[in-house]
Amino acid sequence: MKIFLIGFMGCGKTTMGKKLAKTLEYPVIDLDHEIEKVTGMPVSAYFAKEGEPAFRALESKLLKEFNYPDHCVVATGGGTPCFYDNMEWMTANGTSVYIQMPALALAKRLENGKEKRPLLRDLDEAGIVDFITQKLLERDPFYTKAKVIVNGLNLSPELLKQAIFQL
Ligand code: S3P
Repeated sequence: MKIFLIGFMGCGKTTMGKKLAKTLEYPVIDLDHEIEKVTGMPVSAYFAKEGEPAFRALESKLLKEFNYPDHCVVATGGGTPCFYDNMEWMTANGTSVYIQMPALALAKRLENGKEKRPLLRDLDEAGIVDFITQKLLERDPFYTKAKVIVNGLNLSPELLKQAIFQL
């Protein structure tokens, strides 16, 4: 079973992905990390150098061409489901799981470490809340196509596992 974790930046895809993978004894794959391996630079540097369209093209290519083991947890990037036919591809090739979280909670979690996120790095506190609120409106139609939707607040690997396997 391939489990694709999707959701906005800061919702916990990477952290929960690692914990869930440990619980299930599956390997974990982090898509941003795989992109960084290919480009040889942090995502923020690639964004700045090549621009977002180039990043999205590479992200989609890697998502679809990665040599996944039969069973794995994949932590995707926040924008992955919203470009090309990535969401349909994930649905066809695995179980997509949306970790949903309100904009204010996301903003709080993203205040620190925004430098690593090219879409947020130039925004102040109020700007981040506005940006997330707007982006969530745009992205929710993609995210909510997931097979499983979980509340990201107070989420544990056990709750996540239950939600996924009680389909
Ligand atoms: C992005 C989210 C990031 C990364 C890139 C773009 C987005 O991943 O892929 O900075 O568009 O939401 P995380 O959600 O892991 O931060």
